[in-house]
Amino acid sequence: MDHVQRAHFPHHQLQQQPQIIIRALDVGALEPDGADAVRGLGARPKTLPPKYFYDAQGSRLFDRITTLPEYYLTRTEQLILADCARRLGGLVGPADLIELGAGSARKTRLVIDALMAQAALKAPLLYVPIDVSEAALEEAAAGLVAAFPRLVVSALVATYETGLAALPPRLAPRRLMMFLGSTIGNLDPAESEAFFAGVARALEPGDALLLGFDLVKTPGVIEAAYNDAQGVTAAFNLNMLRHLNRRFDGDFDLGRFQHRAFFNAEASQIEMHLASAGAQFVRLRKLGFATRFEAGETIRTEISRKFRFGDMAAAVERHGFALAERWRDDQQWFAVALFRRV
Ligand code: TRP
Repeated sequence: MDHVQRAHFPHHQLQQQPQIIIRALDVGALEPDGADAVRGLGARPKTLPPKYFYDAQGSRLFDRITTLPEYYLTRTEQLILADCARRLGGLVGPADLIELGAGSARKTRLVIDALMAQAALKAPLLYVPIDVSEAALEEAAAGLVAAFPRLVVSALVATYETGLAALPPRLAPRRLMMFLGSTIGNLDPAESEAFFAGVARALEPGDALLLGFDLVKTPGVIEAAYNDAQGVTAAFNLNMLRHLNRRFDGDFDLGRFQHRAFFNAEASQIEMHLASAGAQFVRLRKLGFATRFEAGETIRTEISRKFRFGDMAAAVERHGFALAERWRDDQQWFAVALFRRV
């Protein structure tokens, strides 16, 4: 991709190089803005793409979700990483870090610390976060370079697919690709297959993949995580309609939709829906679109799949990886797995 400026960081030139480079790849240029929303709302059952969760307000609400007492995922993964970071660094050795999704500063810092310990004295460490939100990348990058003077951030504003195909040249002998937060569970099985194929293409034998994913457990524990008592997840879900109203001159009445999240055991996934409180019409004027809702009809806004460890390991291994190490919390609620590209 020639619209991506290549970044080289010879050691002796480091002083003159900026510590943060942010490149925007042509995100969403494949189709007109809003076409995916029209397609989803026109389908039966109705769906909306999760990317519409993340306007500024949505990102703030999501941050609050990660600190809720019922939402065990973030805090459990954080604990696992704190425990395994040192050993992880030793297993991977000197490596560039590529992160899909900008990630919470705290989780990323643990891994950067571990890789810094592996890098040669004074050598820069290359960190390549890939995210569709430029604001999230800027914030994460600023916090990290303030904490790590030897860090060089080369961020890509891009979808995972586009970003993976446009990685900057290697600085270190290896790449460590990191995909945390059980975001893999937000992809359906077909998307997940395409995702692993893209990751495999971006890596060479000896490179590593670190994957954090949520495990199957008592449905009550899982359902509580997506139906918190304070209603933050409900507000986050409903905020998608506010976002669409603003962006596409819509008339969703937020008082006439309700948050629903339940565990679909057959598909082993949480489903988040917005249920229509009665029969109603909704328009997105800017898109020239209107649709009717029956009473109780829902829009599915997100899935969050829950995995058995062995199933996930097998799915990744089918794409040319071998499981190198796995870590879980004491309750076995969440897993972090290290794979090596073969
Ligand atoms: N990947 C995490 C999960 O599935 C975070 C997440 C993504 C999420 N979309 C969400 C959490 C919607 C709550 C609601 O849990």
